[in-house]
Amino acid sequence: MGPPIRSCSGIIRKPKETMRLIVTTFVGVVFGFFLGVSFPTLSLTKMNLPTSLFPSIDLTYIEDKYAGLSTQALLNAWYSRKRDGVSSTPFHKYKDTKIWVPTNPRGAERLPPGIIESESDFFLRRLWGQPSEDLTIKPKYLVTFTVGYDQKNNINAAVKKFSENFTILLFHYDGRTSEWDEFEWSRRAIHVSAQKQTKWWYAKRFLHPDIVAPYDYIFIWDEDLGVEHFDAEEYIKLVRKHGLEISQPGLEPNKGLTWQMTKRRGDSEVHKDTEEKPGWCSDPHLPPCAAFVEIMAPVFSRDAWRCVWHMIQNDLVHGWGLDFALRKCVEPAHEKIGVVDAQWIVHQSVPSLGNQGQAEIGKPPWQGVRERCRKEWAMFQDRLVKAEKAYFEAMGIDPPNSTAR
Ligand SMILES: *[C@@H]1O[C@H](CO)[C@@H](O)[C@H](O)[C@H]1NC(C)=O
Ligand SMILES: *[C@@H]1O[C@H](CO)[C@@H](O)[C@H](O)[C@H]1NC(C)=O
Repeated sequence: MGPPIRSCSGIIRKPKETMRLIVTTFVGVVFGFFLGVSFPTLSLTKMNLPTSLFPSIDLTYIEDKYAGLSTQALLNAWYSRKRDGVSSTPFHKYKDTKIWVPTNPRGAERLPPGIIESESDFFLRRLWGQPSEDLTIKPKYLVTFTVGYDQKNNINAAVKKFSENFTILLFHYDGRTSEWDEFEWSRRAIHVSAQKQTKWWYAKRFLHPDIVAPYDYIFIWDEDLGVEHFDAEEYIKLVRKHGLEISQPGLEPNKGLTWQMTKRRGDSEVHKDTEEKPGWCSDPHLPPCAAFVEIMAPVFSRDAWRCVWHMIQNDLVHGWGLDFALRKCVEPAHEKIGVVDAQWIVHQSVPSLGNQGQAEIGKPPWQGVRERCRKEWAMFQDRLVKAEKAYFEAMGIDPPNSTAR
């Protein structure tokens, strides 16, 4: 009976009639419980509870008292009762039970496995009614955009390319969230706001694999993508058909295209490899000739993301170098990483978060950001190489040649 009141109190604090009823019921039940069990050691509870037995009770007061009654307190009471030889309650036959289930998730070993929910989701729920009836639709896919309000029109256009089967999650780097409510879809979107952070910073913190577990595919996209020739449902059909665990839409070849691999081809549904400039690819199965997508618009399967999330470094917020390492997460990478040509996008290269840097003497803000990007790339490479070397040394094997890059 306790927890529902606690979770509601943040929202409904006015002493309305209904609330009184709930509180009274709650107090009655709690009191009855303690009366029946008559914990001898919970003097604090014994002292405080009776004075609170009135309908006009302050809910936060009760709530705090209840919160103080931690599991540990209950357990203590339990054991002291056992010491005193009291055994009149129907619970007594369990008094020797200590739960320890090593196969439970780390830290949850004391819980009976049946109560454990190790995964969550972003599904919005009602505050009333049956929990089982809250959801009229369970989105199967997740799309996140890292956005500033200045890009609202572009994002509005992009969101419309994602059906109701998608949960929409916006990461706001400019602190402007409520303004988005001018769009109808904004009210069913999830908004996360933290100023001047990058896409990978948010992804590491808010897209833990156990949180996004219900989604078959996760789109982690920039805000400056032109999606006129893109449809998300069609995209997913192709990704499934071709077994792509990590993918991106083809990029319309416009100015400033960096890699051949991510360039859209007019004559295919997807492609998984390419030719690069001479000398760029040591191996045709390795980036940037295969097993490679860029970090601006990646799409991950649930399983691939579970691995990639772990590879993202907390402090390397720009994600540079990640594109070359994604292949570590799927096997064989040159078959499971690819570019979808039939659903393609345009990279508009709008200067956005890059301009949120700190201006230094004689340098525009974007320059400092760019320098950090390069530095992070080198650091990431270095860590990865060292980590692999350490692993192979510990295992007593010679590292395979291809891991260097
Ligand atoms: C959403 O998913 C369902 C089930 O896969 C599918 O039947 C439906 O067509 C999808 N909605 C859209 C708009 O594609
Ligand atoms: C790895 O590199 C060494 C030296 O460059 C070469 O002799 C060897 O054949 C390579 N092994 C593989 C599996 O390519």
